[in-house]
Amino acid sequence: MQTHAITADLIYEFAADVRAGLTQPKQKELPSKYLYDDVGSGLFEVISLLPEYGLTRADERLLRRHARDIVERLPIPVIVAELGSGSGKKTRWILEALCRRQQTYYCPIEISPAALAMVHRELSDLDSISIVGFEREYLDGLLEVAARRDDHEHLFVLFLGSTIGNFDRPAGTKFLREVRRILQPGDALLLGTDLEKPIPQLIGAYNDPLGITAAFNLNLLSRINRELQGEFDLRQFEHEARFNGEARSVEMHIRSKRKQRVAIPAADLSVEFQEGETIWTESSHKYSRHDVLRMAMMTGFHCEAQWIDDQWPFAENLFIAK
Ligand code: AVI
Repeated sequence: MQTHAITADLIYEFAADVRAGLTQPKQKELPSKYLYDDVGSGLFEVISLLPEYGLTRADERLLRRHARDIVERLPIPVIVAELGSGSGKKTRWILEALCRRQQTYYCPIEISPAALAMVHRELSDLDSISIVGFEREYLDGLLEVAARRDDHEHLFVLFLGSTIGNFDRPAGTKFLREVRRILQPGDALLLGTDLEKPIPQLIGAYNDPLGITAAFNLNLLSRINRELQGEFDLRQFEHEARFNGEARSVEMHIRSKRKQRVAIPAADLSVEFQEGETIWTESSHKYSRHDVLRMAMMTGFHCEAQWIDDQWPFAENLFIAK
């Protein structure tokens, strides 16, 4: 596994991002990538089991049902690079189908070392596979994988679970362009996108009655307490999910229940919250099928095929680099 040795740098970067986000003059915000420490990644695995949150199951169903069809459309041989693999559980179907065609190199790229360890446990029983994990940010990891490929090998990038939806739309387009720049013509990208659905269903998916999504969101404050010696009293904050009609996204916020001041010594910060004031922690954009085709066109790909789930509107999209 390629690991990140410079933990102090990561803490410093976290502190800088917290300082920048919590001193915004209007809406306080924190980058959603910090939701995924070991506790957050574990809670996200539980979210994906919730009846209200159909997204992960739809993604898995599509991959299970259509893995063969997807793989048959790929140029062979391919090296598989997955951006944000999580446990790797749903990737099994694609890898199994691919391993029937070729000896497969699978490179999960993850910032969570716990998730990378899980990938090895989850997939080590597959025949004809070599797994090399990269504990990196997505594009850094993808650059490293691309640098290792031989001339005759294509890259097959997986970006599943609608993680693209956690970027705002211009940032998502920019990210896909950057991915495209690392690829060569004929390389493939399998992009998972959650599709638009009724607002009450969406709110239910991000505000479950068990409170798992609330714990996932509030864990960001616990993480600041653990890693930056923050003094957040979690009982004085609550989770909120709201729909932003203009952006067509579900936003997660953390709302302060009262006026309060919180010290975060390792970020050299003391922050004041008004009663009802929120920290915006994540956006989850929802797409139409047409949005996806346009995204492909704008970022140097063509959309070779689209598979849509029949129970939870979600699309698996196979993009080929032009
Ligand atoms: C990882 N990502 C696509 C999830 C989503 O639906 O935006 C993260 C999540 N946030 C709350 N629930 C799940």
